[in-house]
Amino acid sequence: MDYTFKSQNKEATLKLGQSLGHILQGGDILCLEGDLGAGKTALAQGIAVGLGLTAAVTSPTFTFIQEYATSLQDNLRLVHMDLYRLQHPEEVEVIGVEDAFQTDTICLIEWPKIAEDYLPEDRLDIHIQGSGEDTRIFTFRFQEESWQERLDRLFSILKDDH
Ligand SMILES: Nc1ncnc2c1ncn2[C@@H]1O[C@H](COP(=O)(O)OP(=O)(O)OP(=O)(O)O)[C@@H](O)[C@H]1O
Ligand SMILES: [Mg+2]
Repeated sequence: MDYTFKSQNKEATLKLGQSLGHILQGGDILCLEGDLGAGKTALAQGIAVGLGLTAAVTSPTFTFIQEYATSLQDNLRLVHMDLYRLQHPEEVEVIGVEDAFQTDTICLIEWPKIAEDYLPEDRLDIHIQGSGEDTRIFTFRFQEESWQERLDRLFSILKDDH
């Protein structure tokens, strides 16, 4: 099965994120890839809504890492990172990226490439193609089997919504 999704506008991306939020659990790592302005933060904002966050999720461009409590389960937190401004892979350790790879944490990483040596294989890679006025195409890739069942579930929900 091909896990791709077309989004015509920001609202559709927010809704995609919200549905995605419903299939996530502690320990999940999601890498959000795409050009500047592709919609990585918009997707993260949707995910946050899906996780029941009431705080506004803003782009962690300058803080690198932003942490939020979720209301879904006790002690489940959302960590949202933007590694765009990192210059060297060693900085990944300095800012504590790996500290977020915990079973009580859902971790979203914008611009993950610089951290590739630190990322576990069990993760969901989401690539967003397009920017500006383009229709966005979201492609989901994973290596670990466990994602398959959950993405099947997500895509059956998305299909019903259309
Ligand atoms: N289909 C779409 N999905 C998401 N955003 C869209 C879409 N169409 C247009 N946009 C616009 O594109 C912009 C996406 O901004 P966003 O901050 O989410 O991008 P980003 O990928 O996080 O960028 P950066 O790399 O700078 O962090 C917003 O201004 C949004 O209104
Ligand atoms: Mg962003």
